[in-house]
Amino acid sequence: MTVSAPKGTADILPDESYKWQYVERKIRDICSRFGFCEIRTPVFEHTEVFERGVGDATDVVTKEMYTFEDKGGRSITLRPEGTAGVVRAYLENGLFNGAMPVKLYYLINCFRYEKPQKGRLRQFSQFGVELFGATSPETDALIISLPHMLLCELGIKDIELKINSIGCRGCRAEYRRALTEYFESRKDKLCPTCNERLYKNPMRILDCKSEICRSVCKDAPRITDYLCSDCRDHFEKVKAALEGLGIAYTVDSSIVRGLDYYNRTVFEFVSGDIGAQGTVCGGGRYDGLTEQLGGAPCAGIGFAMGLERLMLLLGNKTDRPVTQLYVAAVGERAKAYSAGLAHRLMKDGASVEYDVMNRSLKAQLKYADKIGARSCIVIGDSELDNKKAVLKNMKSGRQTEIPLDDITAAQIEEAIENE
Ligand code: HAM
Repeated sequence: MTVSAPKGTADILPDESYKWQYVERKIRDICSRFGFCEIRTPVFEHTEVFERGVGDATDVVTKEMYTFEDKGGRSITLRPEGTAGVVRAYLENGLFNGAMPVKLYYLINCFRYEKPQKGRLRQFSQFGVELFGATSPETDALIISLPHMLLCELGIKDIELKINSIGCRGCRAEYRRALTEYFESRKDKLCPTCNERLYKNPMRILDCKSEICRSVCKDAPRITDYLCSDCRDHFEKVKAALEGLGIAYTVDSSIVRGLDYYNRTVFEFVSGDIGAQGTVCGGGRYDGLTEQLGGAPCAGIGFAMGLERLMLLLGNKTDRPVTQLYVAAVGERAKAYSAGLAHRLMKDGASVEYDVMNRSLKAQLKYADKIGARSCIVIGDSELDNKKAVLKNMKSGRQTEIPLDDITAAQIEEAIENE
């Protein structure tokens, strides 16, 4: 009996993995253009990192974490997101002693025990960015511009950038009071989850996807009306900086984010094309997080993008790489020679395959066709004696004579390209 993969996980097969590699290359390229360096933190952390970092009243911490006791009796959690662990690493390794701002990015797997559906898994992948030590509104625009550029360069259209400011602790306290008062008088219309949220975290009600809660939220007080003058000024400057960079946005007061560490600017990139889980990327400022994790105060801002959702949007916008040359061989002498030739060309940079199944010539050519090899040569005794072979372009059928002993990867590519 075979065993199936756990619910909410997915295998990424060769038909898909090349798209992931393409996107990952693009991400690394853009991050280096923006001056961000990669950080790799452990897949698991002490549970406390997320309880203190993400917030112990959030859905992520209360309901979704993969937490277990290890053999040493410690409470360990598989990371449900990247930020808390990166902040832990930033503090523990004294990265604040280096040049400021510190600009980090990561490509990671995360784990959340959620109900799986399209675009929502229990093991999923994030590309995230965190920047420490800069408070200016221009920093917020810089951070937002990075996923914006990535989406543009991947050719992904019809994505809306929604931004909001959730203010500082001061403005939020007053807003929270107004919001609780508003929802208290409409309690009976809220879903059971939002009733639970009412006294714990009323701002999360604004984020509820249920139709009835959404209609209750329509006339709820807006955070932007409660911002103190510093937070209002910051938000105005973020908007101006985005306009300066030519990045279109809409202000949406329902963007509050599901994690507790945010303050001031929050944002999401949302698509209508991939079903209910349309938020491809979310992020914001978290200026108090280093203190929550025991460090000195330090401003922070970042985002994370869900790569499974990004892949749904990418569709077939990229080509699968194919083998450039298949070397078919007839006879023992030719078999030995073809292996050497293939290795010489692979060393030179070409992608080459040859027979390891002891197949007949007909079966070798059938295989070459199946893998979509772009060209093919057949080597037998006469080719070995003459030190020449015929390179056949599999698409056009065009044939070119090539010298066997000193053929280069560039010549193979040229013969394929010149059609
Ligand atoms: P988040 O909104 O929880 O933020 O997750 C970011 C993105 O990860 C989401 O927009 C979504 O695309 C993807 N995602 C989340 N949960 C799942 C899931 N179960 N299955 C598939 N994709 C999912 C954070 O994680 C913050 N750490 C972002 C951040 C970084 N804020 C500041 N710095």
